[in-house]
Order: sequence, then structure tokens, then C-alpha cells
Amino acid sequence: MSKILTVYFSIKGQTIGPGMTITNQEKGNTAMAAEFIRNAVGGDLFEIEAAKVYPEDHMELIDIAKKELNSHTRVEVKNYPDNFVKYDTVFFGYPNWWNTMPMVMFTFLEHYDWTGKRLIPFCTSEGSGFGLSIEDIKSTAKNADVKEGISLKGSQVKNMESKISDWAKGQI
Ligand SMILES: Cc1cc2nc3c(=O)[nH]c(=O)nc-3n(C[C@H](O)[C@H](O)[C@H](O)COP(=O)(O)O)c2cc1C
Repeated sequence: MSKILTVYFSIKGQTIGPGMTITNQEKGNTAMAAEFIRNAVGGDLFEIEAAKVYPEDHMELIDIAKKELNSHTRVEVKNYPDNFVKYDTVFFGYPNWWNTMPMVMFTFLEHYDWTGKRLIPFCTSEGSGFGLSIEDIKSTAKNADVKEGISLKGSQVKNMESKISDWAKGQI
């Protein structure tokens, strides 16, 4: 039987919505999608956190993320899941930051040998979709079997449980 892990990175608090308005939410968009996936397919759910603390202010975060991307910073991961070797299917979730995944996700992917694992990306964004992230995942996650994945409009995730659940069930 397949062993499934849903891992994700997500920012709670300020978020950008339609019309570029900034609102507050207790749970990040990618976190919501991750919970829908885990509820649909079972297995374990794990939140990847950065070792550093990001500012709550959205515009400050935007600036920091851009600098990290431009300098190829490998943001340290605070916590790794136990016994990662036991999973053969990994749903891998992140927000689109500057047209790819947050730098902490590069660090996470580089930490493992992905031989024998299916990596199924899910990405939330306000318009850019996956951007360059799929290419970046393929070149960073050594030996992973990277599947097509799904890209979601972040501000709509909360209303998309059935679509996300159906998609996730179709992956296993
Ligand atoms: C630092 C940063 C950079 C972003 N860059 C993009 C982008 O390039 N394209 C886009 O469509 N959305 C971008 N967004 C919007 C997020 O991808 C979107 O709001 C996402 O759903 C946030 O997920 P989260 O709530 O799980 O953190 C950016 C957001 C942040 C904080």
C-alpha cells in the first residue's frame, strides 16, 4: 500500500487577494489546500517552516523573498518530517513566490534523495500559476518522479474543496 505524505509551506496572516487587496486570514491558502488533500487521500500532513521568521507585513515579505531569490539563498528548514524514507507518494505544496517556489522549498528538496518517490506538486498563486516552479522542482529534487500537479488560485482555495479532493484522489 502506498504511503502518502502531504507537505507544504504557507504563510498565515496578510495575504493578497483579487484586485491586489491585502487581507488577513488565519490559515494560508496552501495550508487549506494541503488539508483538503490529506482529508481526501489519508496519510500524513506536515508543515514545512523556515528557521527564520518572516515579517507579518506583506510588502516587506515581498521584498525579502525577492532578495532571497536573486541571491539563490538556501533558507534553512526548521523541521523535517520523521522517517521520510517510508513515503512513496509526496504531495508537495507551496505558494508561488516571484514566479517559482519559496527558497525554503529548494532547501527541503535538496535535503533528500527522491529515488522511488512520486512527487505531486500543488501550487497556489494569484495569477502566475506554476511559473518556473515545475522546472525548478525537476532540477532540484534528485531522481524524483515528478507528476503534472495542480495550480490553484490562492484566494479561491477555500471554496474548492470538492475539486481539490477529486483531483487528489485521482493521483493515487
Ligand atoms: C513573497 C510573495 C511573492 C509572490 N509572488 C507571486 C507571483 O509571482 N505570482 C503570483 O501569481 N502570486 C504571487 N504571490 C501571491 C501568492 O502566490 C498567493 O497569494 C498564494 O496563494 C499565497 O499562499 P499562502 O497563503 O499559502 O502563503 C506572492 C506572494 C508572496 C508573499
